[in-house]
Amino acid sequence: CGIVGYIGDRDCADVLVNSLEKLEYRGYDSAGIAVLENGVIKVEKCKGRLENLRNKMAADGKPYGHVGIGHTRWATHGEPSDINSHPHGNKRVTIVHNGIIENYRQIKEFLISEGYSFVSETDTETVAKLLDYYYTGDPVDTIIKVLAEIKGSYALGIMFRDFPDRIFAVRKDSPLIVGKGEHENFIASDVPAIMQYTRDYYLLDTNDIAVLTKENIEFFNIHKERLEKKLNTADWDVDAAEKGGYEHFMLKEINEQPTAVKTTITPRITDSMPDFSAEGFDAAKLSSYNKIYIVACGTAMHAGMVGKYVIEKLARIPVIVDIASEFRYRDPLIDKEDLVILISQSGETADTKAALELAKLNGADTLAIVNVKGSSIARAADMVVYTHAGPEISVASTKAYMVQISVMYLLAFELAYGTGRISKEQCEKYTKELQNIPSVIKEAIGLEKDCQFIASKLLNADSLLYIGRGLDYASSMEGSLKLKEISYIHSESYAAGELKHGTISLITENMPVIAVVTQKDLEEKTISNIKEVKARGAMVILVCGEDVVVEDKVADYIIRLPKAEQMLMPMVAAVPLQLIAYYTAVLKGNDVDKPRNLAKSVTVE
Ligand code: G6P
Repeated sequence: CGIVGYIGDRDCADVLVNSLEKLEYRGYDSAGIAVLENGVIKVEKCKGRLENLRNKMAADGKPYGHVGIGHTRWATHGEPSDINSHPHGNKRVTIVHNGIIENYRQIKEFLISEGYSFVSETDTETVAKLLDYYYTGDPVDTIIKVLAEIKGSYALGIMFRDFPDRIFAVRKDSPLIVGKGEHENFIASDVPAIMQYTRDYYLLDTNDIAVLTKENIEFFNIHKERLEKKLNTADWDVDAAEKGGYEHFMLKEINEQPTAVKTTITPRITDSMPDFSAEGFDAAKLSSYNKIYIVACGTAMHAGMVGKYVIEKLARIPVIVDIASEFRYRDPLIDKEDLVILISQSGETADTKAALELAKLNGADTLAIVNVKGSSIARAADMVVYTHAGPEISVASTKAYMVQISVMYLLAFELAYGTGRISKEQCEKYTKELQNIPSVIKEAIGLEKDCQFIASKLLNADSLLYIGRGLDYASSMEGSLKLKEISYIHSESYAAGELKHGTISLITENMPVIAVVTQKDLEEKTISNIKEVKARGAMVILVCGEDVVVEDKVADYIIRLPKAEQMLMPMVAAVPLQLIAYYTAVLKGNDVDKPRNLAKSVTVE
């Protein structure tokens, strides 16, 4: 899931492992490096954390050299094991790979018929051996031949024994950047990996081949023509990728939410009105669509749920929220009159990217809401609104969700104004309320101690229910996901009114219920659902607006949220729900920032 490569004067093994450490947040189950030592490619790899790799190298003797590639793997083809870990290859060529080679079986069969043997179950080893098969003595020619045969997604770091002063990189549908230093150069799947060494980097387009020496970086296309590329500089400070005094990135990122929202919305507001002119669209264009799809995965999809409620309510345009992995295979009813909004923190999620391609194929306009600059989804979409959350390191998303919602609101206001459903005055009023939200989020973070206390009550639960209606249902979906991801306690989110149609049978005193109540018009309804679960013995934790009327004994614990415009309450309710999940995971002693089995960015299907 993470790729790094180095060429320069430093001790290569150290640089590779240090850089891989910065990619740990993406989630992985094995790690490895290959270093050229006295003309021999030496590989060290093993299952488990980087710590295991360090220990193994200490026992085996760390490979010493100045050219190498490294990898953290999140298993797709073949279980996590020492053998399946990357790098893969033979004495002549060694590679690290992210992505999936779809036609690897055919290639493998062919290579076996040519006398090759395989030690791992990975698709990656097939690519390594195909490079060996086509090897002509010219690495770029060889890579070009292989690119013509492999299908699927890949980011590849490659080294050839016969070219000890070079590393090679190429990508398609999987992220990879080339870092430029002073008398040293790098490759990495993400900028934070190399920020400790350099901030200057190049982005690779599909099948651009990068050739790195210590002093130089050259790029070629698949016709072996030289390419010129623009050098980018990472504009976030190094601290942003570090914990800055917090015990976990997740807590740091929760605390960064007020700033993240402010930084995201400010450039899109002019005279208290939404303004997307810098992004190249306006109210008239937005409101010209027949219907809108919002497609995303995980937390980003929950941000889309909030978007649906708000856009439909204010702009009266039908909005369909879809999980990207469902959307892409169900032949959705999209055409050129539709707008498809893709939401993604990383901009690299494979399913979301595929959904984007499908939307384009059907002639729909596409709008991406993405956090990572220059990411694949951002580059492929017709329109892009970048969220400015800064790098999100914790696997469980918090600030990225918050800024995604803030953009959904601005879009809804713009749309509603564009369709004439709200007046200019109303639009200004909503926008101002949104500008006030960062300070309300800050106040909500002040509920930290209460959330910690509630977490202590949840520790021994095997399962929880989150309930809410309307926007509160969307909030409870995200609250439930946060808890599951990091505390490993099962939970489910349910539309409160739907409980009685089945799920209420699960309620016992061992099933805590977290209810979200922030919407005035639905308050009474949800409270009556709370009474139903209370009567069946559940411990109820109520997260509600400051003025919600709660009779005695309806809830065991109440978290009163600071006041904000009712429609914007999902941004306020999110905070205690994040903090409850966070403290539950902390109290359970879990690896909060790197929960088991999860990856920050799922670039494979
Ligand atoms: C992974 C992460 C989730 C995230 C989802 C979508 O599953 O673990 O936290 O919500 O991918 O990621 P994206 O980068 O597209 O927002």
